[in-house]
Amino acid sequence: MPDFFIDKNIAKAKTIDTRFYKSEVYLGLSKEKIFIPSWQFIGDIDKVEESNSVFPFVLLENYITEPLVLTKNSDGKLHCMSNVCTHRGNLLCYDACKQKQITCKYHGRQFSLDGKFVSMPQFKEVENFPTEDDNLHHLELFQWGKLLFTSLAPVTPAKEIFADMMNRMSWFGVDKLKYRADLSKDYKVKASWALYCENYLEGFHIPFVHADLNTVLDFGGYTTEIFRYSNLQIGIAKNGEEAFDIPSSSVDHGKNIAAFYFWVFPNMMFNFYPWGLSVNVIKPIDVSETKVSFYTYVIDESKLNSGAGSGLDKVEYEDEEIVQNVQKGIYSRFYKHGRYSVTQEKGTHHFHSLLAEFIG
Ligand code: FES
Ligand SMILES: [Fe+2]
Repeated sequence: MPDFFIDKNIAKAKTIDTRFYKSEVYLGLSKEKIFIPSWQFIGDIDKVEESNSVFPFVLLENYITEPLVLTKNSDGKLHCMSNVCTHRGNLLCYDACKQKQITCKYHGRQFSLDGKFVSMPQFKEVENFPTEDDNLHHLELFQWGKLLFTSLAPVTPAKEIFADMMNRMSWFGVDKLKYRADLSKDYKVKASWALYCENYLEGFHIPFVHADLNTVLDFGGYTTEIFRYSNLQIGIAKNGEEAFDIPSSSVDHGKNIAAFYFWVFPNMMFNFYPWGLSVNVIKPIDVSETKVSFYTYVIDESKLNSGAGSGLDKVEYEDEEIVQNVQKGIYSRFYKHGRYSVTQEKGTHHFHSLLAEFIG
C-alpha cells in the first residue's frame, strides 16, 4: 500500500492526506525522491557573460544546500560543477569573477574551468594520483534560450520535462530575455512548499483572493491544460486589457491571452506576460517555511505595468496570506483531506498525483 494515493479520476479523488505537509519524514523523502532527481532553474547564461568567468551558487539553500559553480572557459563553453575541492572539501569559488582557472585557497590545488585537475603542491609521493576522482564532479546543464537548468541526479531527461513548455512558448523569445535584479525579489512564506504550489495551480481562488487581478482577467475563459510533468493555465484578458500578439504559427494565435502560467514539476513556475517572464522558484526550508524567489526577465519594458503581469507584489502577498492560513488549518485534527472541483482544480490534482507517484 503506498503512503499516498490520488485517484486518477478527479471526480472521485480526494486531495493529498495532510500528513504529507506536516511530517519531517515526508519532507526528507521529498528531498531524496522528488528534488534530487529533479531539474532545477539556476539562472541564465548572462551570469557568466565573458569567457574565463565563474559564478558560484548554492542549489536550494537550507534544503539540499549543494555548492555548485557555473563556469565559462576560454572556448566559450559552459560547465556546471561541484564547487567543492576534491582534496579536503574546501569551497572553491566564493564570488562571481573573471579567472582563467580555479585555485583552492586552502592548499593550492588547481582546476581548469572545465573541472579537470591541473596541479597540487606536495603530492609527488602520492600513488595512483591524480585519478578521475580528483576532477570536479560535473552536472548536466540544460539550456532553453538564455535560461539554464541542472540536476544533481537526473532520472528523466530535461527535454522530457520541459518539451511541452518549450514547444508551446517557442514564439516567445526566451533568447531575448534580460534579467533584471532590481525587479527580482525573495519572499519568505510561513507554509509548506507544497501548499504554496497547489495554490498557484488553480485560478479558482482569483475572484476571492485577488480583487485587482480579477478586474483584468476573464474568469470564464480561464483554462488549465495538463501535460506529463508540467501544466499550463491560461489567463484570458478582459476586453481592452493588455494581451499578447501571438503569431499564426502558434496554436494560441487569435486568442486574447493576458498570461501563460506554466508550472514545471516539482517547484518551478514560468509566468509569461507581454512584458516578459517571471520565473518563480519555490524552495522548501522546513515543513512550515518556504522561500519563494521571483526572477524577473524583461523583453518589452513599455508593457511592464499593465495587465495581468502588473502588481505582482500585491498578488504575492495576497497568496501568502491565504496559504499561511491554510498552513494553520491543516494542523486541525478534523481536517485530513478535501475534494477537487473538476473544472477548476485540475492543476492541483495533477500536482498531488505527481507527489503521490514520486513518494510512492
Ligand atoms: S582543500 Fe583544496 S587544496 Fe586542500
Ligand atoms: Fe493566487
